[in-house]
Amino acid sequence: MPIITSPQDFNVEDLYVDLGAVLGLPLHLKCEGFNFAGSVKLKAAAAMIEAAEREGALTPGSIIVESSSGNLGIALSLIAASKGLRFVCVTDPRCNPASMRVMRALGAEVRVISRQDANGGYLESRIGYVRSLCESGDRYVWLNQYANRNNWVAHHRGTAPAIDRQFPGLEVLFVGAGTTGTLMGCARYFRERARPVTIVAVDAVGSVTFGGMPERRMVPGLGTSSRPELVDEAYIDDVVHVPETDTIRTVHALAARGFLFGGSTGTVVSGAARWLAEKYPGERPVAVAIAPDLGERYLDSIYEESWLVENFGELAAELDLPGADILGV
Ligand SMILES: Cc1ncc(COP(=O)(O)O)c(C=O)c1O
Repeated sequence: MPIITSPQDFNVEDLYVDLGAVLGLPLHLKCEGFNFAGSVKLKAAAAMIEAAEREGALTPGSIIVESSSGNLGIALSLIAASKGLRFVCVTDPRCNPASMRVMRALGAEVRVISRQDANGGYLESRIGYVRSLCESGDRYVWLNQYANRNNWVAHHRGTAPAIDRQFPGLEVLFVGAGTTGTLMGCARYFRERARPVTIVAVDAVGSVTFGGMPERRMVPGLGTSSRPELVDEAYIDDVVHVPETDTIRTVHALAARGFLFGGSTGTVVSGAARWLAEKYPGERPVAVAIAPDLGERYLDSIYEESWLVENFGELAAELDLPGADILGV
């Protein structure tokens, strides 16, 4: 029985959903949403704060500042609260309203930047704002998840070894790419050990991380409008780009089986399903995908009929949502 004194001290590291039984996919889904932050980002947040404290960059009077689409912000909010530190989260209008409420409930200041950058996203505008805050006073400490090596180190020392212990014969690993911390930490771990594991990055259509053209994206979490500094394609064997419509179809298919996962998980499962069908048709390789989040924070978006109708009209009709008759679709 774990007994803890800080919220970041608890994390479920050994839970997998067998998607063979659930969706007929030869895939085990490693669930990273069962901790007090509700997502995989707790690991990166804890590692970056621990390193900043060790290096003396973060001291009791510091104010942590970070650009986040929500989940890292929540993770930093709870660690900052547990340490009695202030935290300013710089986000944008795509951040789930529920995530903003969670951060505020944990005592964080949330600043929403609504000016779009040249790629039609918000990342560069958010980072510009973070830089200006840091220039305004030296109490501000920017952890910079897009370039901080402790972001991937967290997964190199935690996530990847945990998968390795559970699946020593692993053949394929699917990892969603946001900052690419999870991806690079896991990819480096298996590559350094010369393990025959195919590393497949899963990204959103419209993300520029692997050189795609920027496009409108409505689901926060995966994908970027500005290439993250951490990414290194030399460690990655393949990349799948998933349209948001497939992300949404997949989360609803999982929810129909009782598993309420978040948008990032829908993207990863959808990309993995497509890749496996192409590369291993009719076969059952030992394959794992990382599920970064759970679904409750998306109740106002990908699980909400009116949001779906507004942003993905025809798809809402296809999903046959309960109550769709009220909307006349
Ligand atoms: C829900 C969710 N999934 C996945 C990711 C991507 O993980 P990473 O930043 O390690 O690439 C993020 C964050 O950026 C996220 O918030």
